[in-house]
Amino acid sequence: MAETSVVDQLDSLVSLERGEIDRRIFSDQEIFNLEMKHIFGRAWLFLCHESQIPKRGDFFEAPMGTDNVLVVRQKDGGIKAFLNTCSHRGNAVCRAEEGNVRNFMCTYHGWTFGLDGELVGVPGSSLFYKDKLDRSKYPLRKVAQLESYRGFVFATFDETAPPLPEYLGATGRLGLDLLAERGDMEVIPGIQKFTVKTNWKFTVDNVFDYYHPQITHMSAFALGLIPAPPDNYMEGGAKSETGANLEVPFLPTDLHNVVMVGEYGHAISGPDQDALEVSTGVEPFAWRHNDETQARLGRHGSRVAGHPHIFPTTWVTAGGQLSLRVPREPGVTEIWWFSFRDKNASPEENAALLSSHIHFFGPAGLLEQEDGENWAQSTLQTKGLRSREVPQLLKMGLGTSEVVKDDGLAIIDAPINEHAQLWTYHSWREWLRNPTWEELRERTVPHDRF
Ligand code: FES
Ligand SMILES: [Fe+2]
Repeated sequence: MAETSVVDQLDSLVSLERGEIDRRIFSDQEIFNLEMKHIFGRAWLFLCHESQIPKRGDFFEAPMGTDNVLVVRQKDGGIKAFLNTCSHRGNAVCRAEEGNVRNFMCTYHGWTFGLDGELVGVPGSSLFYKDKLDRSKYPLRKVAQLESYRGFVFATFDETAPPLPEYLGATGRLGLDLLAERGDMEVIPGIQKFTVKTNWKFTVDNVFDYYHPQITHMSAFALGLIPAPPDNYMEGGAKSETGANLEVPFLPTDLHNVVMVGEYGHAISGPDQDALEVSTGVEPFAWRHNDETQARLGRHGSRVAGHPHIFPTTWVTAGGQLSLRVPREPGVTEIWWFSFRDKNASPEENAALLSSHIHFFGPAGLLEQEDGENWAQSTLQTKGLRSREVPQLLKMGLGTSEVVKDDGLAIIDAPINEHAQLWTYHSWREWLRNPTWEELRERTVPHDRF
């Protein structure tokens, strides 16, 4: 689709009222191009955690849309980020994903850049350029704004973007607080990365999907990777290939979920902490059971046991990890996993934590390999001439939920539903219209009813 026709058709591509999405948004190249320009070219994007670059000269390469930036700890302790592309003829000035350097030397002709991105060395400057090249004009290109929230480093290419805490709003800040509050947190070295042949939006909407685990992850239940009460079976609906009713164990969290939707498209969705503990008898979130943590999270935040997501692509898991879903092409997404640990926890505790992280998500994670199969197949079907005409449905709980606004949050208490997914797509649509920041905020103020 051409740009004008995409914008003209936005209302029909996503309908909050009908709970329907047009499948073309998962495979259309023009829509992908617009996403890069209007969403990833403007939004605050997560780059890394400060614990990854503690010392002067430490750097980490992070994605910002289809660009790659180097996030670098400066001599004065500050942090800067600039495009990893040489100002001479475009070569990447750094081939490593992370490390420590005194400067960055481009391997093509040797132009050399300081930790602050300034051009500090040009081979043959007097011989070839007759000392006429003004080095001050050719630094590495910096991001427009960079800020940290509780150690989480974000940047934006848009100099008119609101300050980071305002962009995150109460919902996004709570999402990061739910990770920061676990202790004195640091990233375990080594970011796990792998590629799935899927559109990035499938990987995002799945974050909120509490309808799929009992089927997609049946093997994880059977193995005990996901704990479920022994007698809790969901019967009816799904049938095996022999026609028998499929009995699947599941977490009985359908009774009480908590959803929060926020400005710019941030959302949190999943089980209510108390309901989860009562219904499963397991106590997976011991870190939060102290008065100070509860007070800092607030009475609503301390109930969240589900998944926060910061628009467009940053997911904080209930298990203490952070994942980036990095769009590379309409049908290709890189999944990045940052695992966190508490510096004060024992080696045994941290080893157990890391093992659970590795076995849940990432290239060796059972859950995400199962999810990835579904996402890849769903993406493939959006390319079929006739298949792509079939709408994508998000109708669960549609029109049945009241929104309560309190402490800056918009909260829905309801059984399992698809409100957070719909909110993500609604916000996505408003971002694609490329409004001013003020208009965008107004158009993504949560509605009173879902
Ligand atoms: S492209 Fe980097 S020095 Fe020429
Ligand atoms: Fe899953």
